[in-house]
Amino acid sequence: MNQTEKRKEEHINQALNASNQYVKTTGFECVELIHNALPELDFEEINTQVKLLGRTFSYPIYMAGMTGGYKKAGEINKRLAKLAQQYNIPFGLGSQRAMVENPELKYTYDVKKDYPDVFLIGNIGGVQLKSYSTEKIEWIIKSVELDALAIHLNPLQEIVQPEGDRDFSGIAERIAEVKDIIDVPIIIKEVGAGISRDVALRLKSLGINVIDVSGSGGTSWAKVEIKRGGKLTAFAEWGIPTALAILRTRDIVNVIATGGIRNGLDGAKAIALGSVMFGSAYPFLKAVFENRENEFIEGLIHELKVAMFLTGSKDIKSLRNAKYYITGWLKDALATISQNNFK
Ligand SMILES: Cc1cc2nc3c(=O)[nH]c(=O)nc-3n(C[C@H](O)[C@H](O)[C@H](O)COP(=O)(O)O)c2cc1C
Repeated sequence: MNQTEKRKEEHINQALNASNQYVKTTGFECVELIHNALPELDFEEINTQVKLLGRTFSYPIYMAGMTGGYKKAGEINKRLAKLAQQYNIPFGLGSQRAMVENPELKYTYDVKKDYPDVFLIGNIGGVQLKSYSTEKIEWIIKSVELDALAIHLNPLQEIVQPEGDRDFSGIAERIAEVKDIIDVPIIIKEVGAGISRDVALRLKSLGINVIDVSGSGGTSWAKVEIKRGGKLTAFAEWGIPTALAILRTRDIVNVIATGGIRNGLDGAKAIALGSVMFGSAYPFLKAVFENRENEFIEGLIHELKVAMFLTGSKDIKSLRNAKYYITGWLKDALATISQNNFK
């Protein structure tokens, strides 16, 4: 095993440890959807379909990228891809850096061999993107038949990671170049520390239309890297909570919300706040290890539909218009931002 493969294995083991979740919350606990006592809806006729990235998905649920690059990761990806195909929802691979460094590991990402209908989202770090040639990027896409490519921005994780990359210069320029070269859509994502309004505006100016805000409140990559020997314990709780990240970016780009979404009600709130889809990483991984991924997704869907029923939302478009109010620290944060006249 080389260093990247070994790190991938450590990441899975550490991510499964509940102590590596943020203590800080997502902010969804400050969001109340308004109850509708007269929904005028038949629960059985609720329509959860949503269109994004040129495809119609059966549910607004996305499985965020996690793994690949060693044998067990290949098995995890297969299990998750099977679920994604069965439910017609998008599935994200983890960073494909390992297969670039060792092409023999391609098989751990190559889920379309078994699940050809899955909408497959590839994954590469912004830092890696800078050093990869156009041919290499095209190989990353074509060799496993990607439908979209996620580029992750993870400066917090890298700075805490003992062996992490430190040079984040020039990434924006490279994203703009790559966007014009490749023929699949790009998603820009964080990995749990959130995307701010300024960054979303910058990404929009580069021609990016879809982001996964991946805010804080769920998996903390600072904590994972601290467990692996990182010293920056002061930054364990750093990041923009997911609900705030959605509210600050929703009018700029199509937002996918991940980071601490742990049930279908949080997911429904994410959509009411303005995201197009919601998703998770850690709960899907945990469900695979507990052999209950079907049960987990059924629960998520049921909770989403109940929230739609109780807000009188017959489809996802109506859910996006569902009324809500905001309390607590999230309300204070929004007030402070507006007092300071941030854009
Ligand atoms: C085990 C694990 C591995 C991950 N690896 C990657 C990765 O390779 N690339 C990436 O963009 N995000 C990666 N992530 C981040 C997730 O895609 C997601 O942004 C983040 O975990 C927040 O979602 P959560 O709170 O539901 O876990 C990983 C997450 C987990 C749990």
